[in-house]
Amino acid sequence: MAAKIKRIAINTGGGDAPGLNAVIRAVVISAWNMGWEVVGIRDGYNGLLLPQDYPDGGLVKLDRSRVRGITHLGGTILGTTNKGNPAKYPTLGKDGRWYEKDRTGELVALFKKHKIDALVALGGDGSLGIANMLAEKGLRVIGVPKTIDNDLKGTVATFGFDTAVAFATECLDRLHSTAEAHRRIMVIEVMGRYAGWIALNTGISGTADAILIPEIPYDINKLAAAMKALEERNKYFGIVVVAEGARPKGGSVCVVSKELGRQEKLGGCGERVARELQELTGRECRTVVLGHLLRGGSPTTFDRLLSLRFGSAAVRALAEGKSGVMVALDPPKVRYVPLAQATKRLKTVPLDCDSVLTARSLGVSFGD
Ligand code: F6P
Repeated sequence: MAAKIKRIAINTGGGDAPGLNAVIRAVVISAWNMGWEVVGIRDGYNGLLLPQDYPDGGLVKLDRSRVRGITHLGGTILGTTNKGNPAKYPTLGKDGRWYEKDRTGELVALFKKHKIDALVALGGDGSLGIANMLAEKGLRVIGVPKTIDNDLKGTVATFGFDTAVAFATECLDRLHSTAEAHRRIMVIEVMGRYAGWIALNTGISGTADAILIPEIPYDINKLAAAMKALEERNKYFGIVVVAEGARPKGGSVCVVSKELGRQEKLGGCGERVARELQELTGRECRTVVLGHLLRGGSPTTFDRLLSLRFGSAAVRALAEGKSGVMVALDPPKVRYVPLAQATKRLKTVPLDCDSVLTARSLGVSFGD
């Protein structure tokens, strides 16, 4: 029998995604209805690891009034970071150099010190991998799958993805008219890291002519031929959606930087594709990088509902004595999958999935 819960914590880690505040609200209200107290940890785990950096000591008391009116807001009222991985915490050594230190044991002790009985961790693969380490070290943890990338295994959808795709699709709609007016090829780079979900769903919904995703390495000559072929149909412009993690056959992804304690930063693939396409097709190419715009704004109705469902399911899981699991969408249900399973490998686009087949049936080129 799991010990009785009196106080739980909630934190948000990694890149923000629309719906974080809706999950926070659902967790807080559901937990208070169970008679539990809730505290929010600022900026991932930094509120616990670096309390001296926060005027409020790094922990925020969350009650009903603190979560009023936040469901529709983007961002996170707790703050987040993708630099504070406690298993690889950037630490200044005596030799004046920075190195990575494992502070997870210390972190579990801090939860105990603050009389926090359990944690609801909102995060993507990185943050939920950390949550799993904490669960393995004895902390009661429930994960909630957040990421615009939709690349977490075990759940049909992560919250934030629908909002990102809806916004990117609207951008494609707007870019069609200017592309046509100038007879240009517009190359739109979208986030998604090593998975092509955002590019694929946006490209199909926004009626792109080509979609480049990490799962299907492209041949720039084939892509150029596909763009030239549009002219046979009297179409003198093109829309190409490029995932930031796309790469040419035999080539590598475009990396902007790699810093200590964080994942490599991707970007620049759209520009590379546009430059090469312009050379090969002779048609003017322009690049639009949607970047962080995909992470902003209000969550769509789908993401709000999913976030509220996930948040209350996380509290029910704790009440049922569960730990080390992630809430997951398995329509029509929300169920629980082991964190270890959800974070083992990324959920990438299967090459034979219906969406890839749909795109191919509609004549969309993958540059392959
Ligand atoms: O994982 C979410 C995500 O938005 C990725 O799509 C993107 O590669 C990354 O985060 C960007 O993170 P940062 O906030 O460090 O720019």
